[in-house]
Amino acid sequence: MELTNFIHQSVSYMSSWALRCAAELEISDHIKAYGGPMPLHELARSILISTEKELMLESLMDLLVHQRVFAKCEAGYLLTPTSEVMLSEGANMGAFVRFVTESFPEQLFFTSKWFKDTGKSTVFQLAHNGKQAWEVLKEKPELGNLFNDAMASHSKESVRILVKRYPEIFDGINNLVDVGGGTGSTVKIIADSFPDLRCIAFDLPHVVDNSLNNDSISVIGGDMFDKIPPADAILLETILHDWSDEDCVKILKKCKEAIESTKENGKVIVVDMILDAEIDDDSKETETKLIYNLSMMSVFGGKERTKKEWHGLILGAGYSDYKIYPTRMPLYSVIELYS
Ligand SMILES: C[S@@+](CC[C@H](N)C(=O)[O-])C[C@H]1O[C@@H](n2cnc3c(N)ncnc32)[C@H](O)[C@@H]1O
Repeated sequence: MELTNFIHQSVSYMSSWALRCAAELEISDHIKAYGGPMPLHELARSILISTEKELMLESLMDLLVHQRVFAKCEAGYLLTPTSEVMLSEGANMGAFVRFVTESFPEQLFFTSKWFKDTGKSTVFQLAHNGKQAWEVLKEKPELGNLFNDAMASHSKESVRILVKRYPEIFDGINNLVDVGGGTGSTVKIIADSFPDLRCIAFDLPHVVDNSLNNDSISVIGGDMFDKIPPADAILLETILHDWSDEDCVKILKKCKEAIESTKENGKVIVVDMILDAEIDDDSKETETKLIYNLSMMSVFGGKERTKKEWHGLILGAGYSDYKIYPTRMPLYSVIELYS
């Protein structure tokens, strides 16, 4: 059993590659378009794969069926809730698996070297001649665009769940700034859900998409360590886990200034993970959080945080109180901060 576990761990990166391949071949879209259980030869025909490669396609599908990404009945392959997130008309999360399989592996080989290195940089910096992830994403527009698409697909799903399951969060606010809001896909969802709410998508100047400017959305390029536009509410959706405690305190202080300049009861809405104290349960949720924690540390020098760590961070930035909402979304928690 131990040997199986060891070998499974050694080869499990292949699971990410299989998922990426399914995303690139748009297998979910092909199965959806077929309209029912799709036989192997129909799938091969639909994605224009020659007959001699059907065996490899079947092996790919066997693995993904085993992992519940797709389902299989006698008549053929079916979608599951997992493969549905790759549908181009839905969350379209193919960009997410493409980004993580493309950008992470080259730097991961530096991890053991980093542990023995005397410098304070991140694994990413060691692998990229001292450059930070944000610099490299700016310098390589193709990678930067893939990152933005990956974040947009991921964040759209989270924010769709946020507005549906936590509508009360948006009560009583007239305007909201989505700090680190990328190309603005999340503010579009918020503005569509709450037509009276004025939304601002705020991100680095080379990231924002100015074409989004309209009656309910404004786009502002800037640096959150410098100044955040004033608003009743600030959304920080998967932002703080990219940063060290020291940087998070700086960001949270800037957010505090921004909400204090408009009204008395402003708030900051944090959507991020909470690492539970119990890490020895064998749930996928816990394992995913632990993987995220390690990747945030190695790529950005950030981390996922326990409740105790969130408490220290929030009070350390000068907030008087906060509320953690009961869990109603996968992986992420919602924390509301009051100045
Ligand atoms: C992990 S992504 C968050 C995903 C994002 N909420 C979305 O909707 O796509 C972090 C975001 O923070 C932005 N960011 C990084 N440094 C920043 C800075 N100094 N000021 C403003 N935004 C910054 C990045 O460009 C990126 O879009």
